[in-house]
Amino acid sequence: MVCLGNICRSPTAHGVFQQRIENAGLTGVIEVDSAGTGDFHLGEKPDVRSRQAAQQRGYNLNGLRARQVRNDDFERFDYILAMDENNLRDLQALCPAALQHKLRLFMEFADNNYLSVPDPYYGDGEGFQLVLNLVEEAADALLDHIRKQDLQGGAAEGFMTGVTAGFVPPFIQENVDLGSRNTFGLHTRARYFCAVRNLQELRVALQFRRVRQLPLLVLGGGSNVLLCADYPGVVVQIALQGIEVLTEHDDELHVRAASGESWHGFVQYCLRNGYHGLENLALIPGSVGAAPIQNIGAYGVEVRDLISEVTVLDVGSGEIDTLTAAQCEFDYRDSVFKGRLRGRKIVLDVTFRLHRQPRVNLSYAALAQALSDVSNPHPGDVFAAVCAIRASKLPDPAVLGNAGSFFKNPVIERAQYEKLLQTYAGLPSYPVYDRAGQLSMSVVKVPAAWLIEQAGWKGKSCGRAAVYQHQPLVLVNLGGATAQELVSLARQIMASVERLFDIRLEPEVQWIPAEPLD
Ligand code: EPU
Repeated sequence: MVCLGNICRSPTAHGVFQQRIENAGLTGVIEVDSAGTGDFHLGEKPDVRSRQAAQQRGYNLNGLRARQVRNDDFERFDYILAMDENNLRDLQALCPAALQHKLRLFMEFADNNYLSVPDPYYGDGEGFQLVLNLVEEAADALLDHIRKQDLQGGAAEGFMTGVTAGFVPPFIQENVDLGSRNTFGLHTRARYFCAVRNLQELRVALQFRRVRQLPLLVLGGGSNVLLCADYPGVVVQIALQGIEVLTEHDDELHVRAASGESWHGFVQYCLRNGYHGLENLALIPGSVGAAPIQNIGAYGVEVRDLISEVTVLDVGSGEIDTLTAAQCEFDYRDSVFKGRLRGRKIVLDVTFRLHRQPRVNLSYAALAQALSDVSNPHPGDVFAAVCAIRASKLPDPAVLGNAGSFFKNPVIERAQYEKLLQTYAGLPSYPVYDRAGQLSMSVVKVPAAWLIEQAGWKGKSCGRAAVYQHQPLVLVNLGGATAQELVSLARQIMASVERLFDIRLEPEVQWIPAEPLD
C-alpha cells in the first residue's frame, strides 16, 4: 500500500487489509506492508487523526512506522497499490520495466466512482472517514480478487502472476534438514520446505514451486521414504488436521479424517469412540493421507477394505476431486496414486466406512494365536494384540530409524514356486487375490523376509545400515547411517535373492530419487 508520506492513507490501508487477512485465516499466506514514495516522515507513527479514526472502527495502527519505498519491494510484493494517480506515476518512475505490471491503483478493486483515495492531510476530520470508507471497500474487493486469482486452483494458468523469483512466502523455509521428517532419520536437506496446515498454504506452496519451476515432493509422516539425496525442489509436508463423522445409519458410519492426521492416532480415536474396523491396522507409522497411496495393510486387513472415498487436489489445476474406492484402483501395497496419477494428486482427506457393532477379523494366524485364550474378543483386544505383535517384531522408528517393510512380498508364478519347493521345502506361500477379490490360481505370494533370511542377511550390516535381527524385511539405521549405505545394503540383498531364487525383490519404500547413485 503506497502513498506519499506513509502516515495517513497507506497505513490505514495496511491496517485494514491486515485485519481482513487475519479474519480470513490467511495470516502467513498473504503479507501486507505499506510505504511512501517520499521521505518526509521516516520512522513516524501514522498521523494521530488517522489512528483515532481507525481505532473507532476497531483497527490498531499504533505499531506502524513510516518508511520509504525500496527497490526490493518491487521484487518482493505481488501487488503494489498506489493510493492516487500521483503515487502511481512516482512508482512507475522507480519500478524496473519488467515489474511494472505489479503497479496498480488500490481503488481499481472497489466498485465505485473513485479512482484515488483523496489525501485527508490538509482537510478536516471528514476526510479521514472517507479514507476509511474507501479503504474498507477496496480491501474487501482486493481480498476477494486474491482469493480467486491467486489462491484458487481455477486460475491455474495465470495464478500468482505477481510472484517473482525474489519472493518466498513466509511459511516456506530454505535449506532445511529433513532428519526429523523421515522415520529413517536421514539428514538429507530440502532446498525449500514447508509444513502446510491448511488448503491456502498448500495452494501457495504449489504456486511457489510452479513459479520457480522446481520439483515437488509431498511428504506425509515420512515413514515410507528413503531420501537418497538432498532434494533440489520444494518439500511439502501435509499437516492438515481434523476428524468428523459424516453419516451414521444403524451399524454403519462414515468418518472423514484429514490427510495430516497421524494414522495410529486416528485408529485410537476410532476405537475410543466405538467406530470399529481399523484395529488390525494399529501402530502403523505415518499419516492418514499416505494410507490409500500404498494401500497399507497388516494382520489380515488392507485399508482398501475400509475406504469409501478419497478427496484429492490436482497439482496442475488446483481442482478438488473425490475418488471412490474403485477409482483408487487398490492392489497389494499399490493404488492409482502410485501409478497413473503419480505426482499428480495430493490427498486432502480420506473417508472410512466403519461399524458400530464390534466384529473382529482374526484371519491372520499369528493374531488368532495371540488371542486364542480370549473368549469373544473385542476390537480393543485385537488392537492390543496387534500392538504387542508389532512391538515384538518391528523396531520403533523413534528408537531405531526404519521405514517398516523395505521390500514387498514378491508374487511369483505357481510353477516357479513349485520348482523352488524342490530345493527349499520350507518356502512358505500365501494366496493372492485379484482386484475383484477373486483367488488367483496361477500365482502365489512368498515372504520376502524368508528369502532374505535364507540368503544369510538377517542381522548383517553395511556401515551403519543393517538388516533388523528380528524381521529381515526391515532395514534399520543403527545411528548415523547414510542413504548410500542403505541403498548399497538394499542392492546387495536384491542381488543375492535374485541369484539364489531367481526372484527380483521390489522395494516397498519409495526411493527419492528412484535411481540413486551408490
Ligand atoms: N519370516 C522369516 N524370518 C523372519 C520373519 C519372518 O522367514 O525373521 C517369514 C515367515 O515365514 C513369516 C513370514 O515371513 O511367516 C511373514 O512374516 P510377518 O508375519 O512378520 O509379515 P511380513 O510378510 O514380513 C507383512 C507386511 C507388514 C505387516 C505384516 C503383518 C509387507 C511388505 N509387509 O510383513 O507390513 O505388518 O505382514 O501383516 O507386506 C509394512 O508394510 O511396512 C509392514 C510392516
